Amino acid sequence: MRTESRVIVALDVPALREATNLAARLAPYLAAVKIGSQLFTAEGPRAVRAMHDLGLRVFLDLKFHDIPNTVAGAIVSARALGVWMMNVHASGGAAMLKAAAQAVAASPLGERPLILAVTVLTSLSETDIKTTLGTTRTVPQQVEHLARETQAAGLDGVVASPHEIGLIRKACGPDFLIVTPGVRPADGAINDQHRVMTPGEAVAAGADFVVVGRPILAAADPVEAARRIALECGMRNNE
Ligand code: C5P
Repeated sequence: MRTESRVIVALDVPALREATNLAARLAPYLAAVKIGSQLFTAEGPRAVRAMHDLGLRVFLDLKFHDIPNTVAGAIVSARALGVWMMNVHASGGAAMLKAAAQAVAASPLGERPLILAVTVLTSLSETDIKTTLGTTRTVPQQVEHLARETQAAGLDGVVASPHEIGLIRKACGPDFLIVTPGVRPADGAINDQHRVMTPGEAVAAGADFVVVGRPILAAADPVEAARRIALECGMRNNE
């Protein structure tokens, strides 16, 4: 019996050569690779095609945030690349979220990508959201509010910090996808992430997938690091 990996590796590297080398070695332990703005800005759609050539699914993490028409157009372009998952900012507003959901829903049968929204960036503090964004809500209240808006607009789920998993599960139910960055193995460095959990704790709290960058990329043995994290998140391969 095989239980699939829940690990999405963040390919936060500057060039395709490095990304391809890494992805090829890590592939047996991955649910998908995440291509973000660093790699996509440098290499463009060929980065996505290179991962597909390796048989890997792609989470295109470009966090679209613009007027509804522009976001819908970006989603149609991403859809044409055949990505598995993509995302927008929930704070783009209800009309933008609906336009995003509709652009995804117009995909040919069997090719519909998953679409998630980022609620509150984990780099933002309570002071940031109260002073810069002018909300009176606390961070957890704002996260819950935006997760509900995301679900109401018809998106598949959210990207959320490990500490927000419980409240989102409660608010949005078991079928709403939760993808969680900011995880760190128990013996790992925290880097610039603040409120971390181990990958196993995040999955136990209800995360569907964990996004892992530096704990794999900066490890002395990235393949062994990916294997350990995948096993910790419940991957089994007893065939
Ligand atoms: O290296 P590390 O494991 O911290 O990488 C986490 C990845 O998840 C990075 O690609 C980062 O951009 C992304 N991410 C995050 N926090 C968010 C959203 C995305 O760390 N709120």
